Amino acid sequence: MPIAIRRFDSGDFAGVEALWNACFPDDPPHNRAAVAIPQKLAFQPDLFWVALLDDRVVGSIMAGYDGHRGWLYSVAVLPGEQRHGLGTQLVRTAEAALQSLGCSKVNLQVRDTNRAVAAFYARLGYAEEPRISMGRRL
Ligand SMILES: CC(C)(COP(=O)(O)OP(=O)(O)OC[C@H]1O[C@@H](n2cnc3c(N)ncnc32)[C@H](O)[C@@H]1OP(=O)(O)O)[C@@H](O)C(=O)NCCC(=O)NCCS
Repeated sequence: MPIAIRRFDSGDFAGVEALWNACFPDDPPHNRAAVAIPQKLAFQPDLFWVALLDDRVVGSIMAGYDGHRGWLYSVAVLPGEQRHGLGTQLVRTAEAALQSLGCSKVNLQVRDTNRAVAAFYARLGYAEEPRISMGRRL
């Protein structure tokens, strides 16, 4: 069965949770599926996709658009399914949806402990920009 990419459905929860646990084992509690998925479903739920192989969740991506910039989050492909173009398809799916909303620029963040993944984004046309990334938990 070919890969299918479609919007997240509540029945995908366990599959996405397992995917994130495999891909982001060191993520802090506020990024866990039990917290992040309900929050996403309450805000721009259409900007959340899963990739399915034989009905099994093997990839995910979340996006957000704030009227000024688009952002990508939780780009993940199950380790056994990586390097087959799936991550690229997920990013292109999210980009197309953001563009259709009027978004002209997409941003994303990569943890400094995960620098190797920058090569993936560079291959997709993303450039490293001279910014200091800052944040504050509310
Ligand atoms: C990043 C990730 C989503 C890429 O998914 P993927 O399905 O393997 O990506 P693709 O097959 O579309 O890769 C396209 C190209 O990107 C580059 N690339 C992908 N992964 C790479 C890696 N780990 N190191 C260097 N280059 C990489 C390659 O040029 C690749 O083409 P090639 O396989 O023909 O050489 C996947 O590695 C992943 O889930 N990683 C763990 C979670 C993570 O770190 N997510 C990003 C958080 S910011």
